Parts: sequence; C-alpha cells; structure tokens
Amino acid sequence: MKKIVAQGKKEMGLNPGSVVRPLAAELVSPGRAVYEYSATKSVAIPPDRLQSNRIIAQDNGDYRARNFQVLRTKVLQQMRKKNWNTLAITAPTEGAGKSLVAANLAVSMAMEGNQSVLLVDMDLRKPSIHRYFGFEPECSIHDYLDGTAGVAEMLVHPGIPRLVLLPGRRNILNSSEQLSSPLVRNLVKELKVRYESRIVIFDLPPALISDEVMVFLPYVDCSLLVIESGKNTPREVEKAIEVMGNSPLLGTVLNKSDHTRRTFNYG
Ligand SMILES: Nc1ncnc2c1ncn2[C@@H]1O[C@H](COP(=O)(O)OP(=O)(O)OP(=O)(O)O)[C@@H](O)[C@H]1O
Ligand SMILES: [Mg+2]
Repeated sequence: MKKIVAQGKKEMGLNPGSVVRPLAAELVSPGRAVYEYSATKSVAIPPDRLQSNRIIAQDNGDYRARNFQVLRTKVLQQMRKKNWNTLAITAPTEGAGKSLVAANLAVSMAMEGNQSVLLVDMDLRKPSIHRYFGFEPECSIHDYLDGTAGVAEMLVHPGIPRLVLLPGRRNILNSSEQLSSPLVRNLVKELKVRYESRIVIFDLPPALISDEVMVFLPYVDCSLLVIESGKNTPREVEKAIEVMGNSPLLGTVLNKSDHTRRTFNYG
C-alpha cells in the first residue's frame, strides 16, 4: 500500500455563522473547462473565521498549509495518472479529523490555480462541512434525498476560487440505507460526469461504526484514510482497511500528531 502520512498538530474550535446570497456569474478554472456559477449561492466567510475553525490551507504562511500542499501534490499526481476524479475520505473511528482533512485538502487543491474542486458532505449522520466553513445551508444533500432539491440548488461557493461545497444539514439515522440508495448512486455518477475535470471529495463517516463506508466506496475512484495519532490502534487501522475492501487506497494521513516537524512519509 502506498502511504501518504501528513502530520498535523492539535488545536481546534468551531465558529458557525451564516450569510447566503446569490452570486453573480463567475468563471473559474481558466484554460481548462469553464464553469459558470451563476446559479450557485455564495457565502461570505471572513478569513479569520476559516482560521479559527482550522481551515488553514488558504494561508500560505501557515506551516500546516504547506503540509496540505504536499498531500495535495501526492494525491493529485496519483489521481491524474489514473484519470480519476472522485476521492473519499474516511477514518477508522469518530473524531479522527476526516472533515477537517477533507476541507483543508479541498481548499489546498483549489488554491493550486489549475484545479476545480467540489467538496461533498457525505457524512449524513453527522454533517459538519457547513460548520467548519461557518454557514447555515439553505438547501442540503438531505433535501436532495427527500426529493425537494436538485444538484444545482445545493451547491455553495464559499468565496475561495475554484471551490464549491455541497453541504449536509441535519442528522439522519438510516444513513447506510440512504448511502446505498439509487439516489445517492446517481448523485455520485452525476457529480463525476457533469464536472469531469473537477476533483470531487466526499467526506464520509468512520469506517468501523457501520457499513456506510463499505456501501459507498464502490461508487468512487479512490480513498484516503485519516488516522488519529495516539488514538487509533494498528488493529483499528487494519480493520478499517479491510472494510474499505478493494477500493484503491491512495494512502493514510496521520492527524493530531504532536510532532512539530513538517513530516510526510510516502512510499
Ligand atoms: N490536527 C488537529 N489538531 C487539533 N484538533 C483537531 C485536528 N484535526 C481535527 N481536530 C479536532 O478534532 C475534532 C474532530 O475533527 P473532525 O470533525 O475533522 O473529525 P471527524 O473525523 O470528521 O469527526 P466525526 O467522526 O465526528 O465526523 C474537532 O473538534 C476538530 O476540531
Ligand atoms: Mg466529520
């Protein structure tokens, strides 16, 4: 198995807020496919709110942002080589940092200047992407599953060029039935095909608490496994990899490490 190990230090805090308004037409990804976000809502998120919510990948002066740049490069190299555009992020257990790794990796990829990214909150039981970006969605994947919203209505532009979010909003208990439903399968297919040159990142639930990850991974091209330093045991990591089955695992990200060195191991 190839390994990408990113180490991030501990420190966190949430700071939700809201402002959702329509965005005038915006063109992104010059020189590649051009997307027009005329129908996409925009949220105005103050940069310090992102920072305090630990979305730091947009700040080039932050050493943690550089860690995400290395991770981004490794992930993009592998995905581009295979012509893949869908990536799922999971972890063995709850609270390992899946959502923050997904959010920071998405921001970092979008900052590359050449890459459009869609970050999808596929943790239906515990959606949190909107909280990390600090807004209340008007419309979410839950409305799509209820049949009351289409793809375009759910998308939100968080003010970071080339990044679009597809948020969740409320907790649903039968999430594994939902994730295995034709609706979700079709949604992933639609996102993959409709936005072909966009990387679509799915923030998933943990692998070991239900069969959701097992059910969902066959829909995507590849995955990353976040490991919580000092908490996840080798046995948990092995079991999570077993649950992930044959889905190509690009590597692991070691999160909440106490090491201060900027270390990435790959191989
Ligand atoms: N590198 C880090 N340093 C310090 N705290 C972190 C780090 N990464 C995540 N956290 C904190 O750990 C908690 C869980 O993070 P996050 O929501 O990203 O994890 P998760 O795996 O998505 O959790 P869940 O299983 O609840 O969805 C949050 O309080 C977050 O602020
Ligand atoms: Mg999460």
